[in-house]
Amino acid sequence: MEKTVSEAIAYRRSTRVYTDEPIDSNKVKQCLVNASLAPTSSNLQLWEFYHITSKAVLDKIAIACFDQSAAKTAKQLVVVVTRKDLWRKRANANIEFLNKVYDKPDLSERDLKRKKMATNYYKKLIPTIYLDFLGILGYIKFLVFQIVGLFKPIYRQTRLSDMRIVAHKSAGLAAQNFMTSMAAVGYDTCPMEGSDTLRVKQILDLPRGAEINMIISCGIRDDKGIYGPRFRIPFDEVYFEV
Ligand SMILES: Cc1cc2nc3c(=O)[nH]c(=O)nc-3n(C[C@H](O)[C@H](O)[C@H](O)COP(=O)(O)O)c2cc1C
Repeated sequence: MEKTVSEAIAYRRSTRVYTDEPIDSNKVKQCLVNASLAPTSSNLQLWEFYHITSKAVLDKIAIACFDQSAAKTAKQLVVVVTRKDLWRKRANANIEFLNKVYDKPDLSERDLKRKKMATNYYKKLIPTIYLDFLGILGYIKFLVFQIVGLFKPIYRQTRLSDMRIVAHKSAGLAAQNFMTSMAAVGYDTCPMEGSDTLRVKQILDLPRGAEINMIISCGIRDDKGIYGPRFRIPFDEVYFEV
């Protein structure tokens, strides 16, 4: 039986050594479906998930992860990738979806208004924010928005670096959905930032616009792969009720 969300969160630990027991690819894939249900900025879903099951590719990526044992002993790997470059394609997918949802005769006044607002969002606002040229346009928008922001609240994340953060934020949420789902079915994971991302991109033949968000090793924990009890800063040092 699957663990509850709280049980899965409590069970999940970063696992640095896995047993030799194989894991079921279909279960891992289902956990990736859960990953794709994570919330995402503007529902643009600027992510991709590479599920590595081939031994040859696992070995190559383990080397690119500096041979850390979490990667070397993993039975499978998941590479979470951001695809900021796909913003236009994803915006169009949202528009198509809206057209389908509202493809009914006699739309109510409220639905017509909703459709128009949402369509304008993807046709006008998203390009205003995402359209860039070598980071220059983004910086000009940023400066203009700072001036407008002196007079009213305004969205300020328009620079290339801001847009990268936006994409990585959402991808991180998907990664956490994945790890919690894996814990729920009794599988273990370790998120890894420690990798040569350029080499990983080459191994997976990813395009220039793709960025590695994190690599998640998967398997069944060997007890020696949990490095000590869990440490967290006392909650009252990080919790502020305002
Ligand atoms: C973005 C990110 C990158 C991480 N990179 C690595 C890594 O490269 N190697 C590793 O062994 N652990 C890595 N970790 C795991 C953390 O060290 C671990 O989450 C932390 O020590 C807390 O332990 P816990 O996950 O067992 O609660 C990473 C975690 C995150 C969220």
